Amino acid sequence: MQTLEAIAKRKSTRNFDPNKSVPDAVIDTIVKAGCQAPIGGNQRDSLHLTVCRSKDILDAINQSTAAAMKIEPRDFFYGAPVVVFVSAANKQMAPGVEYANAACVIENMLIAATDAGVDNIYLWGAVQALAKNTELCAKMGIPEDFRPVSAAALGYSLSGAAQPRELSVSLSANYI
Ligand SMILES: Cc1cc2nc3c(=O)[nH]c(=O)nc-3n(C[C@H](O)[C@H](O)[C@H](O)COP(=O)(O)O)c2cc1C
Repeated sequence: MQTLEAIAKRKSTRNFDPNKSVPDAVIDTIVKAGCQAPIGGNQRDSLHLTVCRSKDILDAINQSTAAAMKIEPRDFFYGAPVVVFVSAANKQMAPGVEYANAACVIENMLIAATDAGVDNIYLWGAVQALAKNTELCAKMGIPEDFRPVSAAALGYSLSGAAQPRELSVSLSANYI
């Protein structure tokens, strides 16, 4: 698939087939694409990736998130069998740079996933409560002094393949 074709085809999925796993080799390719992202100051040791294929862990995050939000438990991962969490060091070179870095890593993974025929979505909401649950973060192997800032859910949609959208200047823009 050509790069622009993958960009046009990328689309958030919110109905993954929980019983259809992503082959490890494909996950590896997606994670490698994430690692190829630009990183502010090239501070590569300020990021950590956690590839989670454990339903028990995802269930625990769902419980923790629902408790923190005081809502009924629901699946914030939309049934995805794989979620890659991007964590950032608490100490950063500039305010907010960890979110920019994580976004670059995640978008690379989403485009690579689309290229590989793996459906995907960028997730933020489910990570906020997790960041405060240090016990669960430790259980997930997230290094001390790091906190999760974003995640990419991966899997296969129950609704079939997404149709490519036409590339257009669809955000407010001016050319000078
Ligand atoms: C920083 C960021 C955080 C997001 N967090 C969530 C989220 O927590 N839950 C969710 O369902 N979608 C989340 N999304 C997906 C957006 O809602 C989605 O990209 C947007 O609606 C556009 O749809 P599209 O991805 O299909 O083009 C997030 C996207 C970004 C870039």
